[in-house]
Amino acid sequence: MSLQGKKILLGVSGGIAAYKSALLTRLLIKQGAEVKVMMTPGAKAFIGALTFSTLSKHPVAVDFYNESDGTWNNHVTAGMWGDIILIAPATANTIAKMSVGISDNFLITTYLSAKCPVAIAPAMDLDMWQHKATQGNIRTLKNNGVLVIAPESGELASGLIGEGRMAEPEHIVSWLEDFFSTQPKRLSGKRVLITAGPTYEAIDPVRFIGNHSSGKMGFALADAFASEGAIVTVVHGPVTSSPQNTAVKTVGVTSAIEMLDNCQQIFPETDIFIAAAAVADYTPAQPSDKKIKKGDNPDETLNISLKRNPDILKTLSSQRNKQFIVGFALETDNEFANAAKKLREKGLDMIILNSMNDTGAGFQHDTNKISILDKFDNQINFELKSKKAVAFDIVNHIINKLNA
Ligand code: CTP
Repeated sequence: MSLQGKKILLGVSGGIAAYKSALLTRLLIKQGAEVKVMMTPGAKAFIGALTFSTLSKHPVAVDFYNESDGTWNNHVTAGMWGDIILIAPATANTIAKMSVGISDNFLITTYLSAKCPVAIAPAMDLDMWQHKATQGNIRTLKNNGVLVIAPESGELASGLIGEGRMAEPEHIVSWLEDFFSTQPKRLSGKRVLITAGPTYEAIDPVRFIGNHSSGKMGFALADAFASEGAIVTVVHGPVTSSPQNTAVKTVGVTSAIEMLDNCQQIFPETDIFIAAAAVADYTPAQPSDKKIKKGDNPDETLNISLKRNPDILKTLSSQRNKQFIVGFALETDNEFANAAKKLREKGLDMIILNSMNDTGAGFQHDTNKISILDKFDNQINFELKSKKAVAFDIVNHIINKLNA
């Protein structure tokens, strides 16, 4: 998953190589990227928008507005979305329009308003590629900062043999992997502390109160932060999963008190604190140091009195010096009101809400469906995604907030 979390805005212009862009879309998604496609009207003659919307699971933008319902396709919003715009295939016509800024279709308008890097994979006949006009346009685009994925040699649609074929989808994917690996990491040197998993609260030496948290969301976040160059420590309760990135430091604990003690040592030097653990709110008031034996009466009841555990998130938030602090809220009812209340009462910058009512969200699943609420009452709802993809959404969102 070498492109995990990357957002790629794929522009498809009208050449026969457009059919290869369907395979390219699949390969990008397989590598963990999220892909949104925009097509020039000419590209539709070669391949249907339905192919791309099915593969990318996003609507495809072709025109400035949708004729069926009159809704506007906003090229500025589209241009802001991607980590990169990749135009593949880029025909001689599209390259020419890009070089002088003829904004007569959605794809070029988006290119003109984009702030992210732009790469093109040209595809055309040998003579067109070698023509001084095309080479001049390519020079102009390079001078304007556009990255060019060189066309490859081979048999062309015209029957000619030579340079002009769009780079093979696999080669474009490798090019993107190299590109992203050389980009400066956005959280280089930042220290991130994450709590993850459940806590177990001892009743006696063999029994405990716990919960179903798997720690997967916390570890996915740890991996996502580490991939952005952050120095990450996860303090986690008893779990069977672990982060994939070996640079992530893990500290295993059992109870809420131990989790708090360990976090407190790391917190002062932390830049970003994420509380993803499902901490037990109560712990047995007097755990027995011997195994509790049942009595002779089959009708007996056993009462275990519980006392409150410290709220790790609230405690650390009250000790904040510079930290950006994010909590989670797993709710079953009044989801947004409850999450907003926790955000306020625990003094957070942001809270991630998952509702137990959403299929595929919450404990044990590999997927999650979240909403992000911030202290300025902004709210963004996300679709059901893998926990890995959700982690990248959260990290991107935090980076945007830190840079705002
Ligand atoms: N949290 C914590 N320490 C606790 C309880 C919760 O650090 N003792 C953190 C969780 O990691 C999460 C947030 O607080 O980031 C909200 O946890 P949640 O269990 O949803 O809410 P609670 O505050 O425990 O409230 P309630 O159980 O009443 O909904």
